[in-house]
Amino acid sequence: MSDTHIHRTKPEWKENALIDAQTYEAWYQESVENPDAFWGQHGQRIDWFKPFTKVKNTSFDGNVSIKWFEDGELNVSYNCLDRHLEKRGDQVAILWEGDNPAEDRKITYRELHAEVCKLANVLKSRGVKKGDRVTIYMPMIPEAVAAMLACTRIGAVHSVVFGGFSPDSLAGRIIDCKSDFIITADQGLRGGRAVPLKENADKAIAIAEKAGAKVKNVLVVKRTGGEISWADGRDLWYHDEMAGASAECEPERMNAEDPLFILYTSGSTGSPKGVLHTTGGYLVFASMTHQYVFDYHDGDIYWCTADVGWVTGHSYIVYGPLANGATSLVFEGVPNYPDSSRFWQIIDKHQVNIFYTAPTAIRALMGAGDEYVTKSSRKSLRLLGSVGEPINPEAWEWYYRVVGEERCAIVDTWWQTETGGILITPLPGAIDLKPGSATKPFFGVKPQLVDGEGSVIEGAGSGNLCIIDSWPGQMRTVYGDHDRFVQTYFSTYKGKYFTGDGCRRDEDGYYWITGRVDDVLNVSGHRMGTAEVESALVSHPKVSEAAVVGYPHDVKGQGIYCYVTLMAGEAPSEELKKELVAHVRKEIGPIAAPDKIQFAPGLPKTRSGKIMRRILRKIAEDNYTALGDTSTLADPAVVNDLVENRQNRR
Ligand code: WTA
Repeated sequence: MSDTHIHRTKPEWKENALIDAQTYEAWYQESVENPDAFWGQHGQRIDWFKPFTKVKNTSFDGNVSIKWFEDGELNVSYNCLDRHLEKRGDQVAILWEGDNPAEDRKITYRELHAEVCKLANVLKSRGVKKGDRVTIYMPMIPEAVAAMLACTRIGAVHSVVFGGFSPDSLAGRIIDCKSDFIITADQGLRGGRAVPLKENADKAIAIAEKAGAKVKNVLVVKRTGGEISWADGRDLWYHDEMAGASAECEPERMNAEDPLFILYTSGSTGSPKGVLHTTGGYLVFASMTHQYVFDYHDGDIYWCTADVGWVTGHSYIVYGPLANGATSLVFEGVPNYPDSSRFWQIIDKHQVNIFYTAPTAIRALMGAGDEYVTKSSRKSLRLLGSVGEPINPEAWEWYYRVVGEERCAIVDTWWQTETGGILITPLPGAIDLKPGSATKPFFGVKPQLVDGEGSVIEGAGSGNLCIIDSWPGQMRTVYGDHDRFVQTYFSTYKGKYFTGDGCRRDEDGYYWITGRVDDVLNVSGHRMGTAEVESALVSHPKVSEAAVVGYPHDVKGQGIYCYVTLMAGEAPSEELKKELVAHVRKEIGPIAAPDKIQFAPGLPKTRSGKIMRRILRKIAEDNYTALGDTSTLADPAVVNDLVENRQNRR
């Protein structure tokens, strides 16, 4: 990458910045050389009921044990609410913008505190105790944030499930963490359309109970007033329960290493894993990254467009911003409703200063045409952020030039559900930008590139991205399955956390994430295991076998390409393709809907029966020049059939 592609830190970005280039270097050095001193100091950024005396106690070897601030005691809702009341009780905490542009709400810290305390009392009165798992299946409404914080107030562990997931997916998550209390809404509202959340929850509960689970209560927020069914004794209206609840609730004293939340995410094999985050380290890391990466200053209006069902919503809509006393905008809707100007209209309406979104949204809006952007003012914007997948330089430049008018720095933030917070990112006042590069590690983060054999790559080069020492926001285990945690993340390269991503480091020490090197897809910034889509496909009675790969997609980043072998006697048809797409949507959710289905009489397998995905990826990409060595295949002729079929259907 030549120098012409560097965007040097502008004087305006440096002027008020919290971190300049010298500070970045100095802090980074200290953070990796002396983590105890560094994090001991920065651990003070949050309030502790009982101060910690130990800082870091972590090992990536053997059984892997990760503890931070282990003898400290604190409460997350206290840090996100109570401690702000004196100074900013009347400041807006949640700036809510409805799906319908005519609807909005402003909720101050004092109001949010009262709501959370009441809800915490409701949960208690219904028997929810410290350590219990509460499933949250909600639209993007303020009550979703209140529900998360209410759990933290009493020490319950929340598991937020994205509202776009199907009843089956929801059921799997309820069963896995043995959750008997669900918070949902009658319906969600997105792009003018109702999402049947309560109906899905009812179905999910039926599935879970068939598998032996027991759901005691479902607390239902009335969002649309749409028709729903009701199980007396089990279902409770949020507004009824809240009406009589006290607005005083002592925050539970939690140990730093007590579980805070579980969030399910996809891996290369098996069903989604319950990523477990704990209390102290997570909050220190979420709040610190939020402040420095977004160069957050008191009074800024901050907007992250993610959904609370994903980790980005957890760390950068709820916990990071609220721990820092920020005004966090919560948007219920979608970027293109009522039209593709919506984001920019919201920015003008609420005078947003910091805006954080995903490349897939940027590419879709770029495709809609510049007029949608340029007819808005966007003068309030100071900083732009990107997360979820690699951002291609064209989209980066468009975001920079058209949306930010070359006035705003862009922070391309690389991280994962597992990392709890941002690990590789520019700091806007300190690090020169290169479009497409997440640039440099955050404080305390030690990236390393290794080749397939595990040899370390020094200097410029490409390899698999590992992190070789712990940071406070790191996940602690897979809920209920520590062996799977060790196996998934620490066994490929012994003693190192393996991210699953490929990465290049250039001669300036900048990191360029190239995407997953395992069988995980990233579709519109949503993580999905190919194995999950495959198992959804083979659960259809007409399917005998399926192999799923990703292929480059202009807007989604990756599309889902499925090779399907039918049961003997079943005939391929366009009808059946539609049926299979609908089946996967029903099994997992709309985000997993296949983009392309190719019927395949046989799949390329090695003699030991392993599907050769490398070949399937090439064919899906329409790239036949380097199919590689096919001589180890059990039946090399299969490949020719696949290629022919693929070419015929163009
Ligand atoms: C990808 C989302 C390139 C990556 C916070 C990672 C990115 C996966 C970036 C995690 C980025 C996320 N550049 N790739 N800035 N951010 N990714 O768990 O492949 O939903 O492993 O967390 O998204 O997705 P997850």
